[in-house]
Amino acid sequence: MSVTTQQLSQWKQQSRRITVLTAYEYAIAQLIDQAGIDIVLVGDSLAMVGLGYDTTLPLTLDEIIHHAKAVRRGVKQALLVVDLPFLTYQESPQQAIHSAGRILKETGAQGVKLEGGYPAMAETVSQLVQVGIPVMGHVGLTPQSVHQFGGYRKQGKTSDQAARIIAEAIALEQAGAFSIVLEHIPSDLAQNITQKLGIPTIGIGAGGGCDGQVLVTSDILGLSARQPPFAKTYTNLQQTITQAVQEFCTEVREGKFPPGN
Ligand code: KIV
Repeated sequence: MSVTTQQLSQWKQQSRRITVLTAYEYAIAQLIDQAGIDIVLVGDSLAMVGLGYDTTLPLTLDEIIHHAKAVRRGVKQALLVVDLPFLTYQESPQQAIHSAGRILKETGAQGVKLEGGYPAMAETVSQLVQVGIPVMGHVGLTPQSVHQFGGYRKQGKTSDQAARIIAEAIALEQAGAFSIVLEHIPSDLAQNITQKLGIPTIGIGAGGGCDGQVLVTSDILGLSARQPPFAKTYTNLQQTITQAVQEFCTEVREGKFPPGN
């Protein structure tokens, strides 16, 4: 039995922390699933991490669906959630239903994630949930609004901003979201929101008071060219890969590989 959205709420009640990592292709998806991750997110960070864009804005629905299909084939246990790319859901609830519907039908994902909360997005979430599409919200630093924020800056530092983020999180819960990502906000604000909500919060750069944590997989593997200050690198695959490639080049050039030359 794979992880369900209902299980996530039970885990919150039991204070069992939830783990989330991103994946954009089959091999990594299979590895992180078999290692025991709870949720695999095909994040729109795909645009920057996997496709080399400067922001998440250029990513299309077709591109994320293409990657999510590969991830689906690797994920057997975890809950699979896919991001709605920029301008594939903000125009109207109908546009959101069409885009999210395509994601569920074409990839086999169990839910979608979208950015923003209040008031327009809450109505969209409500309509998605009414047609049976599970939704994960995302508030705080929402990267699709990078130009409005003037960079990838911490949000919720003033009392006005904090009040707005709290209102957004509550509106998303009331609209039926099954969970909410809290990105790059002060830890006391994230803890406050976590205590106010019945649904689990998943933090990224939001301190240890959330119900779960999400990171970008290439950051934890040491594969990212640039990474946010709150990410933790658990291993250095950049070094491992560089060494392996250099060794291969040397062995081929010196006639040591393949053996028996
Ligand atoms: O796109 C993404 O990878 C995300 C997570 C970092 C939360 O939204």
